[in-house]
Amino acid sequence: MKALILSGGKGTRLRPITHTGAKQLVPVANKPILFYAIENIVAAGITDIGIIVGDTHKEIRAAVGDGSAFGAKVTYIQQEAPLGLAHAVKISEEFMAGDSFVMFLGDNLIKDGITKLVNQFRDSGVNSQILLAHVPNPTSFGVAEVKGDRIVRLVEKPKVPPSDLALVGVYMFDNNIFKAVNAIKPSARGELEITDAIQYLIDEKYDVASFIIEGWWKDTGKLEDMLEANRMMLDSVKPCVAGTVDRDTEIDGRVVVGKGTVVTGSRLRGPAIIGENCVIKDSYIGPYSSVNNGCKVINSEVEHSIILEHSEISIGARLEDSLIGKNVKISESDIKPKAYRFMVGDNSEVSII
Ligand code: G1P
Repeated sequence: MKALILSGGKGTRLRPITHTGAKQLVPVANKPILFYAIENIVAAGITDIGIIVGDTHKEIRAAVGDGSAFGAKVTYIQQEAPLGLAHAVKISEEFMAGDSFVMFLGDNLIKDGITKLVNQFRDSGVNSQILLAHVPNPTSFGVAEVKGDRIVRLVEKPKVPPSDLALVGVYMFDNNIFKAVNAIKPSARGELEITDAIQYLIDEKYDVASFIIEGWWKDTGKLEDMLEANRMMLDSVKPCVAGTVDRDTEIDGRVVVGKGTVVTGSRLRGPAIIGENCVIKDSYIGPYSSVNNGCKVINSEVEHSIILEHSEISIGARLEDSLIGKNVKISESDIKPKAYRFMVGDNSEVSII
């Protein structure tokens, strides 16, 4: 079996962060979302992985390389434009070379991995198996109507959902899916929809089974989802202090302090992770905070937030529920007149007291 990870897309709901980077590389608990998908796939015993890339291909290639760091062999497949999930399958036909595969959307996080699903698919001999989850807001997803464990109908983002079973971003296919993606036509939004391709399999009497996921999963398209994913992953982080922490610093709970990081006169309350080569001084880093490598937090409080590489927070106040990009500087200033001074990128959001 092979795997196909979809890592194109523009990430419009995570702007401005995604103006300069791929959404799949935004880290939760200091690890890019995409890496969790690769690890899940390798843990399920699949090492031959195709990654569909778009505009952000350079960055994805730089982060993942040839896959050897994950024990995998990665082949990049360039998608010229975001023409839909089924289009991504279509352009991977040569790479799959007749094999069955698991398709994993690169912005989805599945806490307990996919090993059980992959094993079940391998043993069952069905043509396709689709991961589903009960959700409170089915209108935001592809939705399935099921009979027993078989799927009978799929609708993409329905106004009147036939059930509360959403398609999670993990799908298993044998090579009959290529008949489907080559037969369907673009939808009203101009994309080849994976829901239409699966519906084609159902209509042509192929066996399409479901697998309802019980554990936690998230499609991390928006800020709130990123913060929730960060919470979920930090809850199982292994505490480890590799940096230097002085006597005036107190650590409570599950906290990771990376190599080369220096913490002085601060309080760290887990679950929280601080990357490598950071400076944390006279500050409080509270639960559900991920501070990435090379950051400085001086005389500030941070809680329930994600701060990316090389940013500096020195505000004499508290930062919460925030996603701060790379190389951002937020500081108190003595310059008169006393005022807020910003240089903020397009599509940013700032809330002040
Ligand atoms: C895509 C699929 C949808 C699925 C969702 C899961 O939607 O089209 O069927 O439920 O992923 O994350 P998108 O996130 O592209 O809107």
